[in-house]
Amino acid sequence: MQQALLSWAADHGRDLPWRRTRDPWEVLVSELMLQQTQVPRVVPRWEAFLERFPDPAACAAASAGDVVRAWEGLGYNRRALNLHRCAVLVVERHGGHLPDDLDALLALPGIGPYTARAVLVFAYEHDIGLVDTNAGRFLARAGAGQSLAPRDAQTLADSLVPPGDGWAWGQAVFDLGALVCLKRTPRCVVCPIVASCAWASVGWPEPDPVAGSAGISTPQSTFAGSDRQGRGRLVDALRRGPVEVDRLADVMGWPDAERAERVAATLVVDGLAVVADDGTLRLP
Ligand code: ADE
Repeated sequence: MQQALLSWAADHGRDLPWRRTRDPWEVLVSELMLQQTQVPRVVPRWEAFLERFPDPAACAAASAGDVVRAWEGLGYNRRALNLHRCAVLVVERHGGHLPDDLDALLALPGIGPYTARAVLVFAYEHDIGLVDTNAGRFLARAGAGQSLAPRDAQTLADSLVPPGDGWAWGQAVFDLGALVCLKRTPRCVVCPIVASCAWASVGWPEPDPVAGSAGISTPQSTFAGSDRQGRGRLVDALRRGPVEVDRLADVMGWPDAERAERVAATLVVDGLAVVADDGTLRLP
């Protein structure tokens, strides 16, 4: 299976800009952006972000608000705040270089089990497996033929990495997940590894092994009218300048001022907004 997938990816894999770097900071920024945002949207923003903040020291030297401003258009702004906190600690603890060590990476803000391993694989070329939503489909269907608990998924992912090819393998699995092993309608007829797929080998029994398996993201709740939409609108307004408390409902597009204040308070709790001496809300 490994050789078939690697050679398919060599011909059909996507040419994505972060695949041309092994710089750990550049890899980290791409992985954080890709966590909730589609590839075409990430490409220009990744390039612009790194021009502004080419390394952890540049990011740490900026204010959190500047980093949130540079995150514009990506959504899930807490990622930007955590990235800034992460950069500060990388400078303090690691001399400005992201560590080449799982536990040290996991100890940094905003870096979870997937992101830490992605840095190790795509920057430091470790031979370990990755479990995200794309790889999760591959693992449950092709690898196991059944849904997987998180620990089993990581163990299986690690066991499948061809020694010496962890980087290429990780990218190949992502390409398979993005182009062939699709969520709803896997394109098994053109799949390079269908002959060794555990699910195909038993005739694709229902339920799809992906259901409830490790790494698989659950559908997001409706965005329109949600608290998340209001938070996003307020952060967008704060990128432009301070917002007075009595304008919150207006900025968030709601008639309900009480709800607007309550949701704005969640931004303050998260550290994405601060109340200035003059009573206005601002970016940190
Ligand atoms: N999603 C997460 N990491 C990725 C990568 N390196 N390439 C494409 N999609 C990804």
